[in-house]
Amino acid sequence: MALFPPLDADAEEVRATLAPLRNDFSIALHAAENAFAIGAVIRVAHSFLAREIILVGDASYYEKASMGMEKFETIVRVPDDEALLRHVGDRPLWAVEKDHATASLHAVPAFPKNVVLLFGSERFGIPEHLVGRADLVIGIPIYGVNHSLPLAIASGIVMSEWARRHYRDGTTI
Ligand SMILES: C[S@@+](CC[C@H](N)C(=O)[O-])C[C@H]1O[C@@H](n2cnc3c(N)ncnc32)[C@H](O)[C@@H]1O
Repeated sequence: MALFPPLDADAEEVRATLAPLRNDFSIALHAAENAFAIGAVIRVAHSFLAREIILVGDASYYEKASMGMEKFETIVRVPDDEALLRHVGDRPLWAVEKDHATASLHAVPAFPKNVVLLFGSERFGIPEHLVGRADLVIGIPIYGVNHSLPLAIASGIVMSEWARRHYRDGTTI
């Protein structure tokens, strides 16, 4: 359940309130050049209390899509793939990319602590050399003739799956 919307509260106060509730996963977007998609992912990542949102490259996002949620989020910008990998450090890196997937999202036994979930751009996906650096590549099963889901939908499905395995009826399990 969402907290009472703190529309008048100071953003720093809200961030401080949310800090201990943050979840131990992060979202990384690879060179996502679609400003609406990035904004929508920020909005969704806020709702699932991601620890941070890592943006590779300097793409901007629409505040209409993020609904102002960036005020409450930790958004880390890194210039390129090597900087992304340095920032990830020894945390587990999972690439979310259907074409290279070795596991279905539904079949993974558990999400590791502090996992960084990497998504690709709407046009190009995740570059292969970066997929090769991931500890696991997961796919979201889809059934129509379209090749992939929109980035914001794909990230929402994965975050929802993370939450489904960690919360029950609004409580932590
Ligand atoms: C619109 S898709 C990119 C499609 C890209 N044109 C391609 O063909 O690879 C944007 C991102 O959403 C994620 N995504 C979309 N559908 C997915 C699926 N079924 N399984 C896993 N990831 C998916 C991936 O991270 C992907 O890089």
